[in-house]
Formats: sequence, structure tokens, C-alpha cells
Amino acid sequence: MNVPATAIQIQNVTRCFDELIAVDDVSLQVQTGTTLGLIGPNGAGKTSLLRMLATLSIPDSGDVLIQGLSVIHQPRMVRRLLGFMPAEFGYPRGLTIHEYLEYFGSLYQVPAAELARRIHDVKELTELTARDNVAVRGLSTGNRQRLLLARTLLHDPQILLLDEPASGLDPRARNELRGIIRTLASLGKTIVVSSHILPDLEEVSDSVAIMEAGRLVTHGSLEQLRHVSGETGLQIRIRVSGESVDGAAVILRSHSRVMSCEVRSAELIVRAEDGSGNELLQLLIAEQIPIIEYARETLDLEDIFMQSTAGRVT
Ligand SMILES: Nc1ncnc2c1ncn2[C@@H]1O[C@H](COP(=O)(O)OP(=O)(O)OP(=O)(O)O)[C@@H](O)[C@H]1O
Ligand SMILES: [Mg+2]
Repeated sequence: MNVPATAIQIQNVTRCFDELIAVDDVSLQVQTGTTLGLIGPNGAGKTSLLRMLATLSIPDSGDVLIQGLSVIHQPRMVRRLLGFMPAEFGYPRGLTIHEYLEYFGSLYQVPAAELARRIHDVKELTELTARDNVAVRGLSTGNRQRLLLARTLLHDPQILLLDEPASGLDPRARNELRGIIRTLASLGKTIVVSSHILPDLEEVSDSVAIMEAGRLVTHGSLEQLRHVSGETGLQIRIRVSGESVDGAAVILRSHSRVMSCEVRSAELIVRAEDGSGNELLQLLIAEQIPIIEYARETLDLEDIFMQSTAGRVT
């Protein structure tokens, strides 16, 4: 099968709810086999966008092509290609895990002869270890999310849309989920995953899209976003002995290559021009500032998020 290089092409998509523009003229591409992290404040439009990709809601204008197929004009064919894991969990009452997976397998039209093997495979892939006859209603959040993901994988979709899969998970379960997402990526899946847990996304994403108030604020690899965010990317955390903090801040702030120097108790957070790290360190040593720790940091996704979004609430 010939798979197009671009798995998802979002073309000027807008979606309104009465007066509210939930998704505002968003254009974005996701390359086949890559993972896109989708972030944005509450109400930014992430779920509304994912639902349109999943053919569950129709754009008011624009279109989305999934492997070249339109979500508006060819929704049935699109649905075969993708799996959508919603943020909220609804389930038919009283089902066991096995019944639940069988039920969704038949909804996804998995051939009866293959269903048992598919159920086995998705349980293994998602590390769903709860027994088959356990009631879905009684599952822990961790197993519930695994079951939801397992259900999304039943028809072996090439494209996965995961809306806040880590929501409510404890640190160990989040770690395991990151591992599962990496495994799925290594199987060649194209993945769009939304989350508010930025370090998790940073670890699994090839590129990141930031939305705010319906608009796409920025999109690119982390490397590109660091660049675009206007900072050179050099951030240094310097810990000095307590009485030297103010003196060190004065020295650093008066240096031409330092853009900002923030004092946080005994630590200085310095943003400076690329390549100035050694020079600043030597300067502090020459000025006899007792340095306890000197660590170069790059901007992380949280820094970029805070810089890119204004904190508007819709
Ligand atoms: N069915 C709907 N009817 C009316 N308004 C809606 C509907 N769905 C979403 N909205 C509104 O659209 C905007 C975007 O919501 P959406 O759920 O897409 O944001 P989100 O980025 O997923 O937020 P969160 O991080 O809280 O999940 C919000 O203002 C929301 O209230
Ligand atoms: Mg949402």
C-alpha cells in the first residue's frame, strides 16, 4: 500500500458554536509516522479540532484530509484509517472488559474471525492486565485509560488521535503511557496527542502545536519553537552563596550579552545570548562570586508555552 507522506492536512478549518469561534482558521500538517503534541489552555479548541479530524463534528469552513481523504466528503473511509480516544469515558452499562472490547470490535467491523486475536493484541499493546470478566465500571483510572486506548486500537488504525490520554493518571501510569505511545510510534503510527502535562508531551512529540482561543499560535519541532520564541535558547541557572546573590545579579545585568537576570531566593535565572555561557562564568569567577551550582538549561515546552500564550480565557 502506498501511504502518502502527509498523514493529516488541516486546511483553514473553522468551527463555531453560535457566537463562539472554537477553532479559528487553523491550518496544519502532520507527516506520516510522526507524533504531534497538541497543547493550549482550557477552551483553546483542542478537543473541537480533534473531533473534526475524527469526523465527529463537521467544520463550518475549510477541510481536513486524512491520507488524502476528506473528513467532510469521505467520512466513512476516513474512520477506517483512524482511532480516536476521547477525553471523557462513556460506556454501555454493566459490561465486562471482554464484552466491552467485543462490543467495540463489532462497531468497528473487525471481522469475527479476527476479533479474538485483535482483542488479545490490543490488551498486550496497552498492557491491560485486568481480568476479562472484571466490570468496566469498577476499573481504576489507569486501567480505564488503557481500556479506552485498547478500544481505539481494535481496528488497527494507522492514525491515532488521543485527547488527554494521561488525564488523571498517577506518575507510574503516565510513565507507562509514554512507553505505550512510543511503542505505537515505533510501529509507524501517526499520532496526535493533546495534553496539559507538558514534560510528558515533550518526551513523545516530534512536533508541537500550540493553540489559544481557537487559533494556532505556533507549530514546529521543539528546536524550531525555541528559536521562534525569540530567545536564543541559552538559559543558565546559577546558585551562589546567599550573601553574594545581589552582587552577582548586578554584575550579570550590566553585561551586554545578558538579556535578563531574575533572582529566585539564592538562585539566578539568566537568559543570555547563545555562546556567552563560558564568558559569564569566568566573569563571576573573576569577580570572586562563590558559585555553588552553574547549570545551562534549554527552554522546555513549558517555557515556550508560557511565552506563546497570553493566558486569555474564553
Ligand atoms: N458542543 C459545544 N457547544 C458549545 N460550545 C462548545 C462545544 N464544544 C466546545 N465548545 C466551546 O468551544 C471552546 C473550545 O472548547 P474545546 O473543548 O475544544 O477546548 P479544549 O482546548 O479541548 O479545552 P480543555 O483543555 O479544557 O479540554 C470552549 O469555549 C468550549 O466551551
Ligand atoms: Mg479538551
